[in-house]
Amino acid sequence: MRILAFESSCDETSAAVVTKTHDGFKIESNIVASQIDIHRLYGGVVPEIASRAHVEAISKITYEALRVAGVSLSEIDLVAVTANPGLIGALLVGVNFAKAISAANKIPLVAVDHIKGHIAAAYLLEGDKPTPPFVALAASGGHTSIYKVLDYTTPTVIGSTRDDAIGESFDKIGRMIGIPYPAGRGFDELSREGFIRATEDEVNFYKNYKKSAAYQDSDMTLPSPALTGDTFDLSFSGLKTAAINLLHKYEQRGEPIDRALFAARYTYEAVEAVAKKISLALDKNPGCDLVVSGGVAANSHLRARLAEIASKRKVKIFIPPISLCGDNAAMIAAAGYYEYAAGRLADSSLNASALDSL
Ligand code: KG4
Ligand code: ZN
Repeated sequence: MRILAFESSCDETSAAVVTKTHDGFKIESNIVASQIDIHRLYGGVVPEIASRAHVEAISKITYEALRVAGVSLSEIDLVAVTANPGLIGALLVGVNFAKAISAANKIPLVAVDHIKGHIAAAYLLEGDKPTPPFVALAASGGHTSIYKVLDYTTPTVIGSTRDDAIGESFDKIGRMIGIPYPAGRGFDELSREGFIRATEDEVNFYKNYKKSAAYQDSDMTLPSPALTGDTFDLSFSGLKTAAINLLHKYEQRGEPIDRALFAARYTYEAVEAVAKKISLALDKNPGCDLVVSGGVAANSHLRARLAEIASKRKVKIFIPPISLCGDNAAMIAAAGYYEYAAGRLADSSLNASALDSL
């Protein structure tokens, strides 16, 4: 089965052609047109500008996805599209385009939840793939949630942030220390510099960080976003507010803050909190492997820390390559295949929704 998929929930317009084979998926093309350069001017995504940019890009990238895959629309068996959650105007562009392609070419249509898509990026891995039930983390600009994935189409939330998402917090705090939007990757690199400097260790810098003088520095103390107790929930707003106050304190004193050491401290608290809740989720769900997904799954410190947790528990960990962590249509194709296999076809009444459905 050959799937043409679309993703337009935020600031990336993407179209992909993915074939379901007997032992997995083959990505024939996965074109991502990023709007980052446009939104960077404003320090974040401007919804109306995002919708217009999707309208401008979607036809071009669809032709490109078909051209790279070397197929025509007559060779497509299924159309899949992200229908929620996300920016409503942005989602509507993909949904209406997909509906038009499906209707005009009489190709079945499926609607995909964006987060199911992120988790499904792990099914695109070559070789060993996750099989439900498993525990999944979706960490992105809008989500920080932990799921128990019962079967290919049923992730159920077992924990999530009660306020800000981890990616959003990296973007906001990153902006305050001069990292351009989206700050996640720059934050990752700056933290690495901070960890290495704090520990003078280029290999085990994360592991040794807690023992360093920089970690003990009471001026740099930040709270953990992990809620106490047996809950899997997190809260990033306290960490974010404390970080903003810390930056203001330095500003008022007229002292420049060490950006790298600050970024390392912030990353450490964010990653340790997620690590704590993922450990709890794995302990409470014996026999479950771990999938790590979403744009923040690209974070090198988070990847390494969660790999360590999984290995300690002899649990398999599946993390998509960085190119499939951020928003892309190939992951929507994989999730769409399972919606189709479960008989959940959409029709011309399909509408987009900004809301979470999980
Ligand atoms: O999944 P995604 O592409 O879009 C949403 O669904 O939100 O995630 C984007 C988020 C942004 O907040 C971005 O800063 C973050 O992922 N991100 C990272 C890294 N690369 C991207 N965060 C931390 N470390 C990274 N290396
Ligand atoms: Zn996403």
